[in-house]
Amino acid sequence: MKGMILARGKGTRLHPLTKVINKHLIPIGKYPMIYYPIFKLREVDITEILITTNQQDIPLFRELLGDGRDLGVRIHFEAQQQAIGIPDAILLSKTFVGSDKLTVILGDNIFHDSLIPYVQSYEKQSTGAKILLKTVSDPNRYGIATFDKSQKNILSIEEKPSDSSSNYCVTGIYMYGTEVFEFIKQITPSSRGELEITDVNNLYLQKSKLTFDVLPNWWIDAGTYDSIFQANQIILKNE
Ligand code: DAU
Repeated sequence: MKGMILARGKGTRLHPLTKVINKHLIPIGKYPMIYYPIFKLREVDITEILITTNQQDIPLFRELLGDGRDLGVRIHFEAQQQAIGIPDAILLSKTFVGSDKLTVILGDNIFHDSLIPYVQSYEKQSTGAKILLKTVSDPNRYGIATFDKSQKNILSIEEKPSDSSSNYCVTGIYMYGTEVFEFIKQITPSSRGELEITDVNNLYLQKSKLTFDVLPNWWIDAGTYDSIFQANQIILKNE
């Protein structure tokens, strides 16, 4: 299994905090944010890791992480030219992935749970993809999964719904096989002009090839000032 972390700086949402520094390099507890997904991948013995980020930020990540050996991993870099969507970044991993499976973590996702049981169960999964869900209080910020009456099967996933009866968020951890690259080629940009990972996951769903688990412990998408503050509080308390 290979690992991938998405770390492209996107825009102005967190300015001035991220005006001169990539969001994934700002401190959370004792470490720059990018360390947390690296630790999660290393814990499941995924040691070949591709980081995608802006061309101009690659030297900064290299200065910080080197080739990864001090952290017990091997880090590779690819530049994502524009922040036009998570699937666009995943496409950059095609050669790196080869015929392996791939676990993708969004670089601003910080979570408590170990990936061990989920990656192990995905390794046994003969085909398709796996996602991890978590209940949230603000579903309009995320990809949200709605269930059938039995609450056992996902019916669909909607990206940032303005009004949703569900609060099961699709967290930024995705496990894929090589078919993901074909699925990505089938999707088109959404109304906000991005290729949506939700569209890719819905393609898996349509083919009954999407499994899921629900994370029991805390998980944070550190994409706002409030959630960065919250992540610092939780991490410092736990450390
Ligand atoms: O955090 C979970 C959510 O992440 C999911 O529930 C949503 O379905 C998914 O679309 C995503 O939503 P966000 O609005 O949080 O995505 P954002 O644009 O903030 O990007 C998430 C991370 O991926 C962030 O670390 C930056 C990185 N990224 C994003 C894009 C669009 C890239 O590296 N390249 C990109 O082109």
